[in-house]
Amino acid sequence: MEKFRAILNKIKPLGFSKKSKLLDIGCGTCISKEFFLCDFYGIEPSKNLVVQHPLGQEMINNKKVAIDIAENLGNYFSPKKFDFIICVTAAHHFKEPKKALRAIREKLKETGIVVFSLLKNTEKQTEYEVLKYFRIINKTRPTAQMKDTILVCSPLPT
Ligand SMILES: C[S@@+](CC[C@H](N)C(=O)[O-])C[C@H]1O[C@@H](n2cnc3c(N)ncnc32)[C@H](O)[C@@H]1O
Repeated sequence: MEKFRAILNKIKPLGFSKKSKLLDIGCGTCISKEFFLCDFYGIEPSKNLVVQHPLGQEMINNKKVAIDIAENLGNYFSPKKFDFIICVTAAHHFKEPKKALRAIREKLKETGIVVFSLLKNTEKQTEYEVLKYFRIINKTRPTAQMKDTILVCSPLPT
């Protein structure tokens, strides 16, 4: 998966390691767990997708994966818990982007990094919302191999 490789290449120089706490927003089948070898967490509204991963049910039972939408992230995990948060081709699904993005910032360490991989033709609107809560430190435009726009961001102070 080109997107996960591209994100991994961006966060490695920013301190990503197997000890990092990483949250995947809209993690689907948790396929990213195979790429981001670390202390992995997720939130995903579709239980049917999560349980497709061999460890999916176990991660739900252990409260490593919450079955809910990003807008309700405030109900799970401690504030300022995560070193890295990724959101891969999922932000365009947010019904209440401000609520979701505010909750993402709240769960990120002050020194943390969030990476949004944005679906083609949705990137402008999402970037507009992202800028209210985050500073973009790196932006990669789509290529032939990778159609998403990738934003690497740090949190703005609250
Ligand atoms: C295109 S899939 C991407 C899945 C995964 N991130 C990947 O790259 O394989 C979009 C995911 O966003 C989830 N989703 C839909 N609405 C959401 C919301 N409000 N908050 C978080 N995730 C949502 C969907 O259930 C789906 O799993």
